Amino acid sequence: MALLEIRALRKRYGTVEALRGLSLDVERGEFFGLLGPNGAGKSTTINILLGLIIADSGSIRIFDHDFASNHVAIRRRMNVAAAFTSMNGVLTVWENLMIYGRIYGVKHLPRKIDELLERFEITDLAKRRLQHLSSGQHTRVTLCKGFLNDPELLLLDECTVGLDPDIAEKTRRALQAVQQERKTTILFTSHNMNEVEELCGRIAFLSQGQILRVDTAAHIKRLIPHQVVEVTFQAGSDLTPIRQLHGISRIEQNGDYALRFVLDDPTRQLDPLLRHLTQSGSPIVDIHVSRPTLEDVFIKVARGEL
Ligand SMILES: Nc1ncnc2c1ncn2[C@@H]1O[C@H](COP(=O)(O)OP(=O)(O)OP(=O)(O)O)[C@@H](O)[C@H]1O
Ligand SMILES: [Mg+2]
Repeated sequence: MALLEIRALRKRYGTVEALRGLSLDVERGEFFGLLGPNGAGKSTTINILLGLIIADSGSIRIFDHDFASNHVAIRRRMNVAAAFTSMNGVLTVWENLMIYGRIYGVKHLPRKIDELLERFEITDLAKRRLQHLSSGQHTRVTLCKGFLNDPELLLLDECTVGLDPDIAEKTRRALQAVQQERKTTILFTSHNMNEVEELCGRIAFLSQGQILRVDTAAHIKRLIPHQVVEVTFQAGSDLTPIRQLHGISRIEQNGDYALRFVLDDPTRQLDPLLRHLTQSGSPIVDIHVSRPTLEDVFIKVARGEL
């Protein structure tokens, strides 16, 4: 039994079909990514799981209970942190977390708040009013709020926007650590592919209100098998003989003295290519081999090319 089971979920806003029969299983303890272009239906799904909007049809089971008939009890065991979660701006960080903690009935609340502030490295912000925080600081307060009630299921909707690279890295570490300690099941949306790849075990690709594919990042990347080798030769080199190589899918000019080789079967093509290059006699000044990224796959999925 999955911790979260979504079946044939449909939601229409006027003429817009936001969800068209979405089905998804998330297992207990998973850090699960929900990816998809703008308007794919990610926030709609999360808002339905929060009870903020009601689906037109379909069913949801969470913790093996029917969500529609048990949502009050289920929601006590869940929480959310979203990019634009609105907290009370005139109150301090501490006061806001105290209010949420009381709503959730958190035991040993001050200790819990201290622990989370420390975890997300914002202890020094405790007495600052929320309206005076930078967006990255606000984001981390939102994450503290998300973990306050030790949720079994945590919904994170673009909860890491606006973080600088250093803080983003620390926040990912903190998120991973808390998730592993507490075995929290996380449903995570983000447009930052590196972050999704680093944090999420499985990823669902959502497009136009439907799940296209669910798999690990490593498997998803294999949807694009090719590898690209970019080679820059010394200025003045004659590239004509180098271009006479058969068995390579595509050879493109990439600047006056640079070529790009696209290999659709790297295990067979890479070795002959490298031999050919070294035998060509033209000195190589730079070489770069790249594999498809999750972002490459995302772009193809979003454009309907996969
Ligand atoms: N309250 C609403 N009224 C009308 N249409 C809406 C409403 N909320 C969402 N939609 C539409 O439903 C579709 C799905 O939107 P949703 O916010 O779920 O997308 P998303 O995947 O979260 O996108 P993003 O990556 O931009 O956050 C979009 O076409 C959107 O315009
Ligand atoms: Mg959204």
